[in-house]
Amino acid sequence: MSFRVAVIASGEGSNLQALLDKVHGRDGIEIVAVASNRPAARALERAAAAGVETGVFEAARREDRPARDRTLGDWLEQRGVDLVVLAGFMEILSGEFVRRFHARMVNVHPSLLPAFPGLRPIEQALDYGVRVTGVTVHFVEEGVDSGPIILQEAFPLVPYSRPIADVERQVHEIEHRLLPEAVRLIAAGSVRLDPSDPRRVAIDGGD
Ligand code: GRF
Repeated sequence: MSFRVAVIASGEGSNLQALLDKVHGRDGIEIVAVASNRPAARALERAAAAGVETGVFEAARREDRPARDRTLGDWLEQRGVDLVVLAGFMEILSGEFVRRFHARMVNVHPSLLPAFPGLRPIEQALDYGVRVTGVTVHFVEEGVDSGPIILQEAFPLVPYSRPIADVERQVHEIEHRLLPEAVRLIAAGSVRLDPSDPRRVAIDGGD
């Protein structure tokens, strides 16, 4: 039996591409569906090019999002999805959707959470003047970028005045390793939420 993964993305989809290249079709992992809130998302083209089914789930108004999220959730369940990966999904999902996929949904965020959640985290980190930043992969909970952390990788912001494009390149290079690694670990059954401490994630062979 394969481990069935769905990816939800709003834009470029370079993290989706990393998953297609590094985990799709390996170790029993299949990316079976890619959904977007934007019909023009490049992520959809990348999915189609890999022969993966796509769906567009738009919500014209903020009030329409809960109903949209229910339709999206049904679409994912119908495809027997084991894990939902948010990879550059730029909207906040309803609490009902988050609860429905509790412990079955992860997000990649380009900062060392809990620092700089929300929008434009790389700019936030540079504006703040931190000396170290990084990438976080975490389970999704209600609350923005606040769920239990699975993997993190840090790097120094040296020299201090590096152009943002250069920092973004380094962040992406890390994301494209860390997210596939997290999906591999989850698919292998090596990642568990600690029932006695909901903030903690235990990883077999880890700490
Ligand atoms: C990534 O930096 C991800 O961490 C953030 O949005 C960006 C999406 O990039 N949430 P891509 O669409 O995967 O290229």
